[in-house]
Amino acid sequence: MWLFGWLLVILLFLVLLLTVFHYTSKGRKYWYFKNVAYREPCPLFGNFGATFTMRKSYTKMLQFFYDNYRDQKYVGLFQARRPTLMVIDLDIAKTIFSKEFQCFSDRVSVSTDTQREPLLRNLANMGGAEWKAMRHIVTPTFSSAKMKAMFPLVAECAQTLKVILLKECVDDINVPSMMTRFTTDVIGSCAFGVDPGALKDSESPFLQMSQKMFKIDRSTLLKRYCRTFFPRLFKLLNLRSYSSDVEAFFTSIINQVLAERRSGVQRHDFLQLMLNEQKTDSGFLMTDALITSNSFIFMLAGLETSATTLSFSLYELAKDKDIQDSVRREIIECQETHGGLNYDAVVAMRLVYQVVAETLRLHPPTPMTTRLCTSPYKLDGELSLKVRDPVLIPIHCIQRDPLYFPNPDKFDPSRFNDDLNPPGFMAYGEGPRSCPGARFAQLTVAAGLSVILSTFSVEPCEKTTPTIQYDPRSVMLKNKGGIWLKFVPITNIDK
Ligand code: HEM
Repeated sequence: MWLFGWLLVILLFLVLLLTVFHYTSKGRKYWYFKNVAYREPCPLFGNFGATFTMRKSYTKMLQFFYDNYRDQKYVGLFQARRPTLMVIDLDIAKTIFSKEFQCFSDRVSVSTDTQREPLLRNLANMGGAEWKAMRHIVTPTFSSAKMKAMFPLVAECAQTLKVILLKECVDDINVPSMMTRFTTDVIGSCAFGVDPGALKDSESPFLQMSQKMFKIDRSTLLKRYCRTFFPRLFKLLNLRSYSSDVEAFFTSIINQVLAERRSGVQRHDFLQLMLNEQKTDSGFLMTDALITSNSFIFMLAGLETSATTLSFSLYELAKDKDIQDSVRREIIECQETHGGLNYDAVVAMRLVYQVVAETLRLHPPTPMTTRLCTSPYKLDGELSLKVRDPVLIPIHCIQRDPLYFPNPDKFDPSRFNDDLNPPGFMAYGEGPRSCPGARFAQLTVAAGLSVILSTFSVEPCEKTTPTIQYDPRSVMLKNKGGIWLKFVPITNIDK
């Protein structure tokens, strides 16, 4: 009798094993039948097991595919069980971004369950007509005139950065941490209309909450993996993208600011611009919930990206003294010509622009972007894509391709001498769904560089890593050993 019991247990176990195997490896011939080059996936993890176990960064994995299938126009990937087409050919990438945008107008959204997580109902996640209407409202908030009016808020944060750096520069500076404090104050001021006080107080609650949002530990990684590849399980387990205290904190801040604004306080910030939209009869219902979720995405999309760009720029400039000196001369000249750190001075800084662009080319904080096929389309006249098929554009790989940028690993801002937007440069994405905050990011980074380089000589220190190695835990590009630099005040340098 007991033998029968054991046999039954073993049989059930085998059936379970087979079911799991079948479920996790179903569809593994997807690309084979489509006649697209691909690499055999492993069950459950697809082609990204090494990323999941934190052995290789996501960017490194994409680079592996890009290098190995460089002679193809695209390659088929398996992100867990989900087939995703990674585009290699630049013309095809541009077709998807711009020419055939109407067939690829959505991005692969992190969550469609915005009832449960209302903060995710934002521009970056929206699709279809809702995205179009929201984008129409958001785009003018980033116009040159609005940026000019908003710039004093950025400049004020930059001046505080200088004061704090002068105090803290006796020690080596943990650059990403300091730059995050700066961009937290900038975004808090320009998107939320509050002073997070992150520069003055490294323990500020606003900073702590925003850092919690960007935390990358194993449990966050597991949660994100589950959200992307097993959304139903994510919902079933009642998991959330951001912890409830983060959601509650930012929602309550915005509610307070909205109440203040309705009592007559006015400011030149994004929140005010969205609030003004409520008073128009454009036909779009700009609710308080939408103002909240879109202020939140400005923080999510703008805070780390700008801080990372500033950090990598300073790292590259610390390693190249000649370029650093030329940039410093330009910054000082432009400020003298335009009467200080103001909008006109910053937009006149051509070399600063080139340094930022070259930093973004080498180390794009968002190393890839995605599109969802929204209307059946035959790619390059040969590969049929159906609605909801995901497409991935490997920004980092394209920007490091010697075909578009000779000697691609060299930091060389002169690449942008003749053309500020050369083919192959796509750090802000491209087309109607590209980054709306690009100009604002440029201003923030330029303001940060201006105060830093006109006050300090930025130099490598003992803790500076000789090269950049991307942190395998992060999808966004970060240096594994952090970025540590010495900030030496310059009182009487040869300007
Ligand atoms: C250096 C800094 C930044 C970089 C490198 C960057 C990069 C990007 C990239 C690559 C995308 C995807 C574009 C595409 O799919 O074609 C994007 C989208 C977006 N970014 Fe940025 N970004 C930066 C700063 C900002 C800032 C400061 C804000 C807002 C204040 C912002 C707001 C957004 C939003 C809302 C989207 C989604 C747009 C949509 O789906 O319509 N970004 N960004």
